Amino acid sequence: MRVLVINGPNLNLLGERNPAHYGTMSLSAIEHRMEERALEYGWKMEFHQTNHEGEIIDLLHGARIDCDAVILNAGAYTHYSYAIRDAIEAIRIPVIEVHLSNIHARDEFRHTSVIAPVCRGSIIGFGAASYILAMEALVEIND
Ligand code: DQA
Repeated sequence: MRVLVINGPNLNLLGERNPAHYGTMSLSAIEHRMEERALEYGWKMEFHQTNHEGEIIDLLHGARIDCDAVILNAGAYTHYSYAIRDAIEAIRIPVIEVHLSNIHARDEFRHTSVIAPVCRGSIIGFGAASYILAMEALVEIND
């Protein structure tokens, strides 16, 4: 199983950015934890972080050729990027939406995810554990 993990805008600042919402773990520490779990499963992981919408779209397009699943935290693009929504819809592999914070318990503009309807499912509000739970979801659904 080859899994692409995409983290969108501002997630490179995890650990220092708003720890009350996002915790104190850095993105590289989260990726390290995922890598450890992936070793247990014999999965090949690929990690990308970008602050650019078009790059997220290009990564999703590429994943349809060389990956079996995507774990995506689209950051604030979650709430308004129809272009990312369309890219997810266009590819056939499962995309799991992930958020560290509970977007439904925060500002009203965060309550809407325009990508949720085209994702295989969403894991929201469990901090860094959301990413590990997304891996568990992939194990269980076995798409
Ligand atoms: C986030 C939630 C978004 O609303 C926010 O813009 C982020 C992070 C999360 O993981 O909780 O950048 O996706």
